[in-house]
Amino acid sequence: MDVLRREIAAAGGWIGFDRYMHLALYHPGLGYYAAAPGVLGAWGGASDFITAPELSPLFAATLARQLAGLGSSLRLERVVEFGAGSAALACAVLRELADAGAWLPGQYAIVEVSAAMRERQRAAVAELPGELARRVCWWERLPEAFDALVLGNEVLDAMPVRLLHRGEAGWLERGVGLDSGGRLCWSDHALPPGCTLRPSLDQLPVGSVTEWHEAAEGFMRSLGAHLGRGVALLFDYGFPAREYDHPQRSGGTLRCHRAHRTHDDPLWEPGLSDITAHVDFSAMARAAREAGLDVLGYTSQARFLLNAGLLDLLGPRMAVGDAASLRLASGVQKLLGEHEMGELFKVLAVGRGLEQPLAAFAQGDRSAALEDAPAAGAGPAGTPTWD
Ligand SMILES: C[S@@+](CC[C@H](N)C(=O)[O-])C[C@H]1O[C@@H](n2cnc3c(N)ncnc32)[C@H](O)[C@@H]1O
Repeated sequence: MDVLRREIAAAGGWIGFDRYMHLALYHPGLGYYAAAPGVLGAWGGASDFITAPELSPLFAATLARQLAGLGSSLRLERVVEFGAGSAALACAVLRELADAGAWLPGQYAIVEVSAAMRERQRAAVAELPGELARRVCWWERLPEAFDALVLGNEVLDAMPVRLLHRGEAGWLERGVGLDSGGRLCWSDHALPPGCTLRPSLDQLPVGSVTEWHEAAEGFMRSLGAHLGRGVALLFDYGFPAREYDHPQRSGGTLRCHRAHRTHDDPLWEPGLSDITAHVDFSAMARAAREAGLDVLGYTSQARFLLNAGLLDLLGPRMAVGDAASLRLASGVQKLLGEHEMGELFKVLAVGRGLEQPLAAFAQGDRSAALEDAPAAGAGPAGTPTWD
């Protein structure tokens, strides 16, 4: 907490929420991801949330099948995973690929911002057979240019966001200051001059608070600057801008997770809760295009996994009445269920140098929904135009 107070005082009494979120998640002493190697995972309720690779082995199995198809047809030798968490996905994908015997990357590079998570990943990778473990490496920074299949599951939502508050006279930046008792408090500032906000913000009424994903946009641009030939598959919860800025979401999408509970006060005991925001996929697609990448597909997680053959992989793993099969079926239900992860979670594919459309988007591609012009007939702020 003193770290935050000092930082705010040194900055003249106010820091942007993106700076606050960065410190609360990634500061080496204070940050949630820096301090708590148990933050994610499926161990007896000790973790704060559970992600798709931890939830069901079918997630990694289906992705492995996609990677094998793409890797062999594009003659790519490398997978790069951003924000690998516990390394559950990396380890499971490598085991699945080795078992299938069709295609194995010569290198599986992990880019991970948190040193504590990197340590945890090294321990998990050390449990792999040597033939697989030796393929895994960690990149401190991106090489000038690299060809690869790129993965990121729930990484974009963990990147710091700026906050916007719509006052009577227009949009302000919401940041963090200190009250007279030295406690953290919300505080609004004028936006920096020349700042261009997304058009769909006009849909939100006065009083709204929402997010601006500047860091994640920077990540997409950086991917575009460094990725040569390849495809990136980014899984996360979120919406296109028009849905993101629907008046029903006038409170924004910032959420905190602590001990499998969700709360909405990111200023409460910083460093002890995860803080996330839903992803504005229109902004991600625009940033990728600006950096010269093609948008190859955008759909729900359920549609992607079904197109990619999850059900073909499920059948042979099921045995009637067996407890393991029931667990498998329940995991698949969570991955695909409309009211679980199937619809809220999306997959955005971007890439360069691909001539064929991606089979995993053959049905249900929603790329057209990413265009960020306001919905036809969008009324003034406060007029719902979508349901
Ligand atoms: C919510 S966790 C998801 C972990 C894992 N992908 C999974 O699905 O279980 C977010 C991960 O992304 C990492 N991360 C956040 N920002 C990053 C960035 N800019 N580059 C690389 N890793 C990042 C975090 O440290 C953490 O490991």
